[in-house]
Amino acid sequence: MTLQNDLLLRTARGELTERVPVWMMRQAGRVLPQYRAVRERAGSFITLAKTPELAAEVTIQPVDAFDVDAAIIFSDILVVPEAMGLPYEMIESRGPVFPSTVRNQADLSRLRVADAESDLGYVLDAIKLTKKELNNRVPLIGFAGAPFTIFCYMTEGKGSKTFSVAKKLLYTDPNFAHALLQQITDSTIAYLQAQIRAGVDLVQIFDSWAGILSPEQYRTFSLPYIKQICDVIAGTPDRDVPVTVFAKGAFFARHEIGQLSCDVVGLDWNMDPKESRALIPDRVLQGNLDPCVLYADFAQIRAEVKQMFSDFGHQHYIANLGHGIYPDTDPDKARCFVDAVKEM
Ligand code: CP3
Repeated sequence: MTLQNDLLLRTARGELTERVPVWMMRQAGRVLPQYRAVRERAGSFITLAKTPELAAEVTIQPVDAFDVDAAIIFSDILVVPEAMGLPYEMIESRGPVFPSTVRNQADLSRLRVADAESDLGYVLDAIKLTKKELNNRVPLIGFAGAPFTIFCYMTEGKGSKTFSVAKKLLYTDPNFAHALLQQITDSTIAYLQAQIRAGVDLVQIFDSWAGILSPEQYRTFSLPYIKQICDVIAGTPDRDVPVTVFAKGAFFARHEIGQLSCDVVGLDWNMDPKESRALIPDRVLQGNLDPCVLYADFAQIRAEVKQMFSDFGHQHYIANLGHGIYPDTDPDKARCFVDAVKEM
């Protein structure tokens, strides 16, 4: 049962390692033609995500194509609201849409805390199958959205540049906001615990919309809920599963995030590596190449990776992009990034 390549796991646990591990956020997806072929066969994103055989197949594709040091289970953060009773649709070239939204206590009373085993069994089956098919080549990362980011989609009903409907509720009905955030948190804890039982080796919490909040609002409406999740997972006695917190745009909260009971802090490309090391002295850091660097030529990609290493150092560090890879990236450029990290 021991992993052939456990570099990411050892680094995440704070051990010194012989090389910096590397993977890419959103590595399983449209950047790969072989993903688009499977997605075509499935008919829709949601069918693909709900068919464990296909989800396992596209989870493993980037391990073969890019030789990354980890796989991340193919799913979406929006499966949690669906399991709470709020189904979503994935509309081609527009993104996710919720036909109904949750904006008051009456809406909330129609939802439930997700039962991971019954409502999200398809993700758990995909994890078990992926673990089997990966055959211990690399660790498998599980994930969930941070409660505040999920709150954004559930209240707004769709993507937004400002999420002003979601933010408005923080000012006009904070009691409702906290009640919904707590129900999302309880669902997310159950879901991540189930992912761990199903076999994931690490978990990452994506707070993709952290950057729209003020420091004070972040402290009130996001951090306490991420803290609950980290505390439960860190307190799970039978298995040591490292937790990564990636809060995009939350440069102002780096010190506080580094005080959570997490193991790794993910950084976006706006966050300076040296400044981040000073603010987060005793956690592993992950990131943070601008995904747009992968539009540059091969020599420039290698030069940027070299710069990243001189800023982060070679220990307590996981190389990654600063956010998900863009779908129109040339896969050869992605491969160049991974190879450059391994050669440093
Ligand atoms: O490779 C991986 O990282 C695993 C798969 C994964 C997906 N979504 C698949 C996906 C992961 C980790 C996510 C997380 C996710 N989903 C986040 C957090 C990370 C981030 O990027 O900030 C968010 C905010 C979502 C919500 C979401 N899902 C949006 C906004 C969209 C539309 C934008 C887009 O990229 O199209 C999605 C759709 C989605 N999720 C796709 C994939 C591969 C594309 C849809 C398709 O293939 O048809």
